[in-house]
Amino acid sequence: MAVLSDHITITELSARSGVAASALRYYEDLGLIAAERTSGNQRRYRRSVLRRVAVIRAARTMGVPLSAIASALRTLPGSRDPTPADWERLSQRWHRELDARIAVLEKLRDQLSSCIGCGCLSLERCKIFNPDDKVSVEGDGPRLLMPDEPRVATKRGSRGRA
Ligand code: FES
Repeated sequence: MAVLSDHITITELSARSGVAASALRYYEDLGLIAAERTSGNQRRYRRSVLRRVAVIRAARTMGVPLSAIASALRTLPGSRDPTPADWERLSQRWHRELDARIAVLEKLRDQLSSCIGCGCLSLERCKIFNPDDKVSVEGDGPRLLMPDEPRVATKRGSRGRA
């Protein structure tokens, strides 16, 4: 069996991770991953970068914003391959955010045939769970699906964009 190299090219990283080279360069610009340079100024990535890219890809699939992924990955050492303890620290840090996302996804899966408190009043069950759109006083969006989500208007006011 061929011995796998400790360092891989961007083409190999892209092929194995399933992430386009352009996206990998973008992640590098954002500081999510880092490459070393050959004497010919070519990128070479530690093989362990594959794990970072896999975590980025999985988190993106869950809808985690790149900014949150970036701040989580910044807890990992840059000068050496992260150890299981390093990854455990990251995992603990991300636990609450991922749990909240999983909870919303589970509710979406389980409540889609019922009233989600969005204001449409289009289902029979809306009369039971959201008569006259009473949940609208709690905020905008699907209040029965995402009860803890702050008003988008509030978010917009504080950051200028949703
Ligand atoms: S599903 Fe929209 S208000 Fe009930």
